[in-house]
Amino acid sequence: MASAVSTLAPASQVRTSVQAPLAYSWSPALEKEMAPLYARVKHVITPMEWPFYAPLIKSINELKVQRDAVILAHNYMTPEIFHCVSDFRGDSLQLAKEAARTDAKVIVQAGVHFMAETSKLLSPEKTVLIPDMRAGCSLASSITPEDVRMLREAYPGVPIVTYVNTSAAVKAECDITCTSANAVKVVESLGAPRVLCIPDQYLAKWVQSQTKVEVIAWKGACEVHERFTGEELERMRADEPGLKIIAHPECPPDVIAAADFTGSTSGMIKWVKDKQPAKVMLVTECSMASNVAIEAPDVEFIRPCNLCPHMKRISLENIYDSLVHLRHEVTVDPDVALRARRAVERMVNLTN
Ligand code: 13P
Ligand code: SF4
Repeated sequence: MASAVSTLAPASQVRTSVQAPLAYSWSPALEKEMAPLYARVKHVITPMEWPFYAPLIKSINELKVQRDAVILAHNYMTPEIFHCVSDFRGDSLQLAKEAARTDAKVIVQAGVHFMAETSKLLSPEKTVLIPDMRAGCSLASSITPEDVRMLREAYPGVPIVTYVNTSAAVKAECDITCTSANAVKVVESLGAPRVLCIPDQYLAKWVQSQTKVEVIAWKGACEVHERFTGEELERMRADEPGLKIIAHPECPPDVIAAADFTGSTSGMIKWVKDKQPAKVMLVTECSMASNVAIEAPDVEFIRPCNLCPHMKRISLENIYDSLVHLRHEVTVDPDVALRARRAVERMVNLTN
């Protein structure tokens, strides 16, 4: 567990001085104080884990006030982050919108690097922190700005839609961004007969199945979702009568064909809450099932466990350190930011 520090190193734009937090330790008094919160998460956090988490959770929640900070948590965060310290939770689109709206001085992104960059683009005056700079994404690393320039030359006049799972430098070369929650809407909004949809080949294929616009794909893939197979899903169905299967559009086409519903992470959560299936399998990163299970206690979750190694770099310990030391600050080159912001804002305006 992280220990308290006595000196703080402010990031460039934050001048607020804060007291180093008390190093809480597990005690009967703390156990009593945190009992209502534990009651909420006890189905997914064991009594063995809680004494390790509770002191950090209390410290983080106090530090957020001192720092005038908010924590934006993606749906793939583990439950102790998602339910116990975050201020806003959601999919990539919802988090981007929260980043644009918040009045807080500091944003801690409990997610991956491209999400922190998107927050910085929409909140340039804020200090945006990511607890671990290595939290990347296989889609973001599958394409470079040079690749996009090459595509522009190869397909003159064809608009380029980029998934938000890309670097700001790639976004700066594109016409508009999309997320899995709005990809079809974004592609159709351009009024073009052909659109490049990069970098996820499977998202592009799924969009193609939903629209008459011709969709040209790049070769990227999500290392978590590409591991699922349609065969595996059919086996699960045979083993679990009555099972409903819902999949993220980053999955390969045979997986999507075998699913009862396809949607973004928040679309999947909404589907479970609305339909209340007796038994469901979420074909996506495995922390999400734990997070939804808390809000849908009557649903049985069959859990395939594919972890995103990048999302799993974020922990209570490094969130705590991030708030104490104001690290690691995410910045974007101003010229890149200007062009990338245009692409992100065009999407946000379309979906507002
Ligand atoms: P969502 O926008 O659906 O949350 O997806 C983001 C992501 O990284 C999924 O792997
Ligand atoms: Fe990237 Fe896949 Fe991880 Fe999402 S789950 S952050 S798309 S590697």
